[in-house]
Amino acid sequence: MAPVVVIGNGDMPEFEGRITVYVAVCVVIAAFGGLMFGYDIGISGGVTAMDDFLKKFFPAVYERKQHAHENNYCKYDNQYLQLFTSSLYLAALGASFVASKVCSKYGRKPTMQISSVFFMIGVALTAGGVNIEMVIIGRILLGCGVGFANQAVPLFLSELAPTKIRGALNISFQLFITIGILIANLVNYWASNIHPYGWRISLGLAGIPALVLCFGSFAICETPTSLIERNKVEKGRKILRKIRGVDNVDDEFNSIVNACEMARQVKQPFRKLMKPASRPPLVIAILLQVFQQFTGINAIMFYAPVLFQTVGFGNDAALLSSVITGAINVLSTFVSIYLVDKAGRKILLLEACVQMLLTQGIIGGILMKDLKATDSYLSHGEAVFVVTLVCLFVMGFAWSWGPLGWLIPSETFPLETRTAGFAFAVSSNMLFTFIIAQAFLSMLCHMQAGIFFFFAAWIVIMGLFTWFFLPETKGVPVDSMVEKVWNNIGSGPGSWVAMTRWV
Ligand code: BGC
Repeated sequence: MAPVVVIGNGDMPEFEGRITVYVAVCVVIAAFGGLMFGYDIGISGGVTAMDDFLKKFFPAVYERKQHAHENNYCKYDNQYLQLFTSSLYLAALGASFVASKVCSKYGRKPTMQISSVFFMIGVALTAGGVNIEMVIIGRILLGCGVGFANQAVPLFLSELAPTKIRGALNISFQLFITIGILIANLVNYWASNIHPYGWRISLGLAGIPALVLCFGSFAICETPTSLIERNKVEKGRKILRKIRGVDNVDDEFNSIVNACEMARQVKQPFRKLMKPASRPPLVIAILLQVFQQFTGINAIMFYAPVLFQTVGFGNDAALLSSVITGAINVLSTFVSIYLVDKAGRKILLLEACVQMLLTQGIIGGILMKDLKATDSYLSHGEAVFVVTLVCLFVMGFAWSWGPLGWLIPSETFPLETRTAGFAFAVSSNMLFTFIIAQAFLSMLCHMQAGIFFFFAAWIVIMGLFTWFFLPETKGVPVDSMVEKVWNNIGSGPGSWVAMTRWV
């Protein structure tokens, strides 16, 4: 029998419950939404480095690649090639606002189901693509799938989880993102040697997690919060008993009912979000996502093979190095799962800032010194050192800004603005992922090694923000954030009260 946990700590409400097998099953199935997202992040860089793909859709880039020695930093700089990667995120941006409505009106579960359907159609169009238009439309549909999944899955996980392990359960979303990226790296490594249709295999296998999410979703429940919010009160109580594995769920049930009553008084959640009282969680949700992207992580996730070729590896070695960074990304996420509910959110974010700042700075320094635009290569030793630094950078990101960029926005909004507020988090992630995906290769071409200092500067800013403005949410029940956190955010310098005076 699973252990009984007392959910809550210190002066927080204590709800009783077990960590049931049913919750574990729901978490794993929902997290497949993260796998779909991760697979997409990881697959595009490798596919856009495949010659067969380039010859078919981007012959000009293929030609330029043949003369790679002309400029180390610029061989892949092509707006259309970047559009292939980034169109998905632009579509996801728009889709997340629609998904937020679907999520609150019909529930988290149907939102996930719709996402998997979008995704499957998108996979068919991209993998079966005969011209660039078809491939881009496919990417847009994949983006709608990602927008819907990223809106529903983190909320689903945060609402389903017992407070005491909410951080850890929610991070299973990020864990599956990283597993998706790693699988994509491995698939690319293998498929790049299958000519001429390896890229179709790479793009087509994205359908598997979508199928699992689609069929698996019939076995999972709706969250009690979403049921009660939509007036299915008794069903909500029944599901709460089922997921907590105990009969007496009165305390938690009452706290959800209270939150729902407050929520019902708010007819226009988006308007309520714009009020000064909603500002702290909203600004935090948006900034965490903006900062997450300005760590530069996706420059590495999307373009690792390209980046590793830039510093002098051959095609295979570059793909293999990205498999290694992908594996480190997965393994380091476990550190976060272990520590997030013990050490707390802030300390992980701050430690990682130091680690990421140092690694970005040193990489920038080495490239600036030794990798000129033309007629220059890093020595093998230096190239291996750069890959090691990239691994250390990814490690820091994976136990902090990666998972917490999703966790914190999904747990800090009161119910009445939760789906609307979280839509801002998802869309900010997508917007800035789009910007990095669209601009990185051009930035690399123009700023050369300076791009690493650009990201390093952002890391300083996000560290200061975290230090001064981020409240700790470890151990606070999801429906008690207002009284436990936002009503107590202080009035000294560096507090939200001080900040809202000048924002
Ligand atoms: C981010 C992605 C990133 C991934 C890397 C996620 O949290 O949202 O943009 O590629 O982490 O693991």
